[in-house]
Amino acid sequence: VWSNVEMGPPDAILGVTEAFKRDTNPKKMNLGVGAYRDDAGKPYVLPSVKQAELEVIDSGLDKEYAGITGVPDFFNSAIKLALGEDSSAVKDGLNVTTQAISGTGALRIGANFFNKWYSQSKTFWLPTPSWGNHTPIFKHAGLNVSSYRYYDPSTCGFDFQGALEDISKIPEGDIIVLHACAHNPTGVDPRPEQWKELSQVIKQRRLFPFFDMAYQGFASGDTNKDAFAVRKFVEDGHQIALSQSFSKNMGLYGERVGAFTIVCSSPEEAARVMSQVKIIIRPLYSNPPIHGARVAAKILNTPALNAQWLTEVKGMADRIIDMRARLRDGLKREGSSHNWQHITDQIGMFCFTGLKPDQVERLTSEFSVYLTKDGRISVAGLSSNNVDYLANAIHQVTK
Ligand code: LMR
Repeated sequence: VWSNVEMGPPDAILGVTEAFKRDTNPKKMNLGVGAYRDDAGKPYVLPSVKQAELEVIDSGLDKEYAGITGVPDFFNSAIKLALGEDSSAVKDGLNVTTQAISGTGALRIGANFFNKWYSQSKTFWLPTPSWGNHTPIFKHAGLNVSSYRYYDPSTCGFDFQGALEDISKIPEGDIIVLHACAHNPTGVDPRPEQWKELSQVIKQRRLFPFFDMAYQGFASGDTNKDAFAVRKFVEDGHQIALSQSFSKNMGLYGERVGAFTIVCSSPEEAARVMSQVKIIIRPLYSNPPIHGARVAAKILNTPALNAQWLTEVKGMADRIIDMRARLRDGLKREGSSHNWQHITDQIGMFCFTGLKPDQVERLTSEFSVYLTKDGRISVAGLSSNNVDYLANAIHQVTK
């Protein structure tokens, strides 16, 4: 029956983990997928999450279905984390927010909603480069994907002029996808003044800003600072769409905890939009899983646990910053003649190393260092035990 089905390629990011698992070298390193590790290189369950889980279990809740939009205590506090406790959009009832199957699921709900209901355009503009899953998410939902300049390979930084030039030529009404903070894969974010200008240009062009916020807290260690762009756009009067993930900042990867929001112009409009968001979700997966959302809700709504969690987020962000510095020092010690300043300039979980495909290939085949082909490494996968090994390996393939 399936003789017509061609063998597909492994996933550009998750396929790296599959290859890593097959490698028997004891020194092997998985710097592919963005998943935080502690300094012993082990997956990290946040102590606040452990505590919240105990409290959730203790409270003896049943396992009935959630509503189509999930656990209200979760999604109502998720949007406040993004827009701020005092957000007037939330106070005025303008947000349509639903729980989602983490960031990917949130993007997909958004993609389906735009395809069905956004009459002005079917084209989503992504930064170059963008997260590898963005293009398939939007294309599989029947949308067109285009790109605007974002990363400048010559500086390993933000191409602000290029971005402004390209954005000012995007047809009116199209949708522009923005990484709220800790851009994936480059680790390069606009500065606050640049965000302000982007907000103005996007407004003049009448583009629809669709934010992907998968790393709130990972860029600066502070969830409020990392929400600057999203809050600024809402304050400037943009009716944004927003995808949120709690995979990284709460380490809830496999629990698939996220949220999707559209900011509307009136509560009456919000009620209509919400009714259609539910009609999109119901045939997709009916209603979302409850455990992870309850854990996240407990953390977001219990002041002491919330404070503890924010400290733990900062701890993760700081450990990554420390690893960036140690990798850069290590390359210097190895005698590398290249400029590696971008390792410490870039922020968030990833470093876009600038390594070429043949160098990436050698890192994997000669040193069992696994990373995506674009040269991105997950800095969260580095630890005191392996950072020097990596510095040596990078030096060997770049000298
Ligand atoms: C990544 O980019 O590594 C993460 O967002 C995980 C994923 O699903 O790709």
